[in-house]
Amino acid sequence: MTQMIVGASAGLGRALAEHYAQKGHPLLLISSDSRDCERMVADLSLRFGVQVRYFAQDLSNGDWPFSAIEARLSELPPLKGVLLPVGFTDDADLLTIEPKQLEKILRVNFTSVAMFISHFLPHLRSTPGSKIVAFGSISSIRGRGRNIIYSSAKRALISYFESLAHGLNDQGPAVWLINVGYLATNQSFAQRTLLPPQDPHQLAKLVQMLPSNRSGIRFWPGYWRWIALILRMIPWFIYKRLSF
Ligand SMILES: NC(=O)c1ccc[n+]([C@@H]2O[C@H](COP(=O)([O-])OP(=O)(O)OC[C@H]3O[C@@H](n4cnc5c(N)ncnc54)[C@H](OP(=O)(O)O)[C@@H]3O)[C@@H](O)[C@H]2O)c1
Repeated sequence: MTQMIVGASAGLGRALAEHYAQKGHPLLLISSDSRDCERMVADLSLRFGVQVRYFAQDLSNGDWPFSAIEARLSELPPLKGVLLPVGFTDDADLLTIEPKQLEKILRVNFTSVAMFISHFLPHLRSTPGSKIVAFGSISSIRGRGRNIIYSSAKRALISYFESLAHGLNDQGPAVWLINVGYLATNQSFAQRTLLPPQDPHQLAKLVQMLPSNRSGIRFWPGYWRWIALILRMIPWFIYKRLSF
């Protein structure tokens, strides 16, 4: 059955696409650049012999393209999973930021995730074993002086996923939010990171293994759970001097 990947063209999205194609799943790939998507469709269908379609649109502005996406989905077997590795950071995301940039960061990192889930949830409700998976960030653990809007959007995802899990009450689909540490992708490229970036293919494996009979929020790698606990316990007068 089909997996839809929103933010499929790079990093984790690409790793997820490869992983699910290898397991024989038809795919619908969504991202802003049609050339990237075309290359991925050719590569994945050739290598793994699966049906792959794409839909390219910049999700940071304009109308939500759900009827066009539904048309693409109608060419594929029924939808079983919605994976949302979409994300965008901007070096200008500091204490003050241009309104358009602020809106773009919120829209790509929070609004698009909530819009896709709200639209496609009814499609998945009667499909046994269906899953929705989105990706938060360890930047949302505690307030910080950079990536301010990005980390706020990621923290909003935590509240949203708690509400989804509460509202669905294990009736399906399973809804998972993975708060990601550092990934070896474009987003962390050339950044000074506290710990070494991890291979996105490892995370793709975990995503496929997430249970489909319950929902949850977790850190990946798991040790971030303990780092988060410590970061939250540090008194503010010390924490405000830390830079990470
Ligand atoms: N990398 C890290 O260290 C790290 C750490 C914590 C959390 N995360 C989160 O983990 C997830 C995956 O990260 P990643 O490193 O794989 O990200 P990435 O390499 O930057 O890829 C992001 C994906 O989102 C798509 N995207 C971005 N803006 C878009 C827009 N306006 N319209 C449509 N698609 C758009 C990109 O497609 P286009 O290029 O075509 O726009 C790309 O496919 C993200 O949610 C990220 O926030 C990453």
